[in-house]
Amino acid sequence: MPDPHDSAFYPYGGLKPAAGTSGSPPSRAASTGLAASQPIPAAGTASRCLNVTDPTLRTQADFDRLAALDDAGWDHNRHYHAFLLRHLTRDRSIALEVGCGTGAFARALARHFRRVTAIDLSPEMVRRARDLSAAVDNVEFRQADIRTFDLPPAAYDCIATLATLHHLPMEETLARLGAALRPGGVLLVLDLYRPATLVDRGWSASAAVVSTLLRAWKVRRLRPPPHVRRAWAEHARHDVYPTLAEVHSLAERLLPGASVRRHLLWRYSLVWRRRV
Ligand SMILES: C[S@@+](CC[C@H](N)C(=O)[O-])C[C@H]1O[C@@H](n2cnc3c(N)ncnc32)[C@H](O)[C@@H]1O
Repeated sequence: MPDPHDSAFYPYGGLKPAAGTSGSPPSRAASTGLAASQPIPAAGTASRCLNVTDPTLRTQADFDRLAALDDAGWDHNRHYHAFLLRHLTRDRSIALEVGCGTGAFARALARHFRRVTAIDLSPEMVRRARDLSAAVDNVEFRQADIRTFDLPPAAYDCIATLATLHHLPMEETLARLGAALRPGGVLLVLDLYRPATLVDRGWSASAAVVSTLLRAWKVRRLRPPPHVRRAWAEHARHDVYPTLAEVHSLAERLLPGASVRRHLLWRYSLVWRRRV
């Protein structure tokens, strides 16, 4: 039965690695260390660096490579932009996006906020985001790691993060992002979950069908090109997603009143408004 973990239907439309090639998923705790002495691979050498063992460097190298493959068209994250934007609150002075990739959601936020700061770990993602946003003058793209990024308390009216939280220590990151919101501000999270129950697997099977139909309609292809699928499949080997139950329980503990929703295309959203 297709799902993001045991089938050909990787959430971005790419092929998952063949069974037996990915090994056990790395633990969340193992994904936090950054060896300061290790050199950062230059953009363009990423594929040769995929045997790097430091998780942050590996993530950065992966996304430096994937940046060049983003054709700025429809994908599973962009499919939910309109849903997320429906939850913006009244105060729209300053917004932050964490893990902005090539900047599609930051540009969407820029239509609603006076100023948007969008950060990403990958220099190549930031370079492409700047290129694609030349006509937008109220977004600042910065290459930065959210774990060391200065997040002043109560500073933002909106903080958004799409398909990025699973690369981060979830609890610590949600707590920091929540504290950086102004009273009345809103946290918007979209990310992938790990199907863990029969019901999840049913949704996942339906997602595979609907995703194929949507892709055919939106980009006139049934699947992304093989080199794109291969690149995402290599990246997916190291991805670890929480189950929906884990997301619910963390949200209840850290962000009381948060709304967690399952979405068909292998994703969940978490929307939390900080009390005034
Ligand atoms: C799957 S991509 C999603 C990009 C974009 N949000 C979208 O919806 O298409 C995840 C992004 O998170 C970024 N990222 C991963 N770890 C990060 C970190 N510690 N700080 C900032 N960005 C990070 C990656 O470089 C990558 O661009």
